[in-house]
Amino acid sequence: MTATRVPTWTRRHLLDVDDLSRAELEAVLDLGVELRARRAARELPDTLRGTAVGLAFYEPSTRTRVSFELAARELGATVTDLSVAGSSVAKGESLVDTLRTLERTGVRMIVLRHAASGAPYLAARSLERAAILNAGDGSHAHPTQALLDALTLREALGSLEGARIVVVGDAAHSRVARSDLHALVRLGASVVLSGPPAWVDPFAEWPGVSVVTDLDTALAGADAVMALRVQRERAAGGGVPSITEYVARWGLTAERLDRACPGAWLMHPGPANEGIEISAELSTDPRSLIGRQVENGVPIRMAVLSLLTAEMDRW
Ligand code: CP
Repeated sequence: MTATRVPTWTRRHLLDVDDLSRAELEAVLDLGVELRARRAARELPDTLRGTAVGLAFYEPSTRTRVSFELAARELGATVTDLSVAGSSVAKGESLVDTLRTLERTGVRMIVLRHAASGAPYLAARSLERAAILNAGDGSHAHPTQALLDALTLREALGSLEGARIVVVGDAAHSRVARSDLHALVRLGASVVLSGPPAWVDPFAEWPGVSVVTDLDTALAGADAVMALRVQRERAAGGGVPSITEYVARWGLTAERLDRACPGAWLMHPGPANEGIEISAELSTDPRSLIGRQVENGVPIRMAVLSLLTAEMDRW
C-alpha cells in the first residue's frame, strides 16, 4: 500500500511544530488516531516498505527511540540504529559527515536526537535527499512529544479550544515546554506557566501564554497540569536555591491538584523524578495521563513518518 498524501502536509522534514499550521497539526493528530486503531486491529498499512530509517540518538532516550523504532518497523521500514557510542563518532567524525554517511548507505529518513540546540536544522541543510525528524535538540524543540501531548489532551478534554493548561517547572531549559507551548496555543488552548521566575519569566511575552509564579494561584481553573522534568544539574546551577525548596513550592501532590478544576488531568513527558516534580502517589492517580502519553507515542510517530514518506519523492 502506498502512502496517502494529505493536502495540508507538504514538508520534507519535521524540525519543530512552531511553523505548523493548525490544519497541519490536526492532520497529524487525526492520522495518529486512525493508525492507532489500525494497529490495534492489526491492519496497519506497509507505508514505509522499501524505506530505510536511521536512528541517530546522540543523547539517551527510552520513549522516543523505542516508539520511533516500533513505528517505523510496524509500517514496513528497514531500521538501522547508529548506536552512537559504538560508531565512528567515537573517533571524532562530525555530525554532518556521520549523517551524510547514513544517507549514502540508502537511509532516507533520519531520526535525530542531539544535545546541541539547532543540530537538526544543520543536518537538514546539509543532506541532499534524506528527511530529518527531530527527536529532541538541546533545550530547543521536541516536536513529536508536543504532538503526542496535544493528542492526549485533545482526547481527554474533548477539544483544546478554550482549555486552560498549566505547565509547571523549568520551561526555560525544556525543549518539551517550548514545543508544547507552540502546539497547544495554536490548537486553541491558553497556557499558564508556573515555576521559579528564572525558569518561566522568559515566556512572559509569548502569545497565548501567561506566567503565574505561585502554583496554587496558577492552578485555579486549570483543565490539565503538566509537570516538567527538573534537570538536577540546572537546578544546582541556578533557578532555585535547592530541590527541597522547589518541591515545597512547585512539586505536584494530590492535594495540590485538587486546586485545579474538578477532574483536571495530570501530565508529565517523562522520565519523571518521583518525589520532586510529582509525588509518588500521583503517578498512580486516576487523573494521570502519563501512561496515555507514552501509548500515543507510537501512533503519532507513525503518523509523522507516513506524512513525510508521502512527500519523499518530491525532494
Ligand atoms: N519524553 C522523552 O523524550 O522521553 P525519552 O527521553 O525517554 O525519549
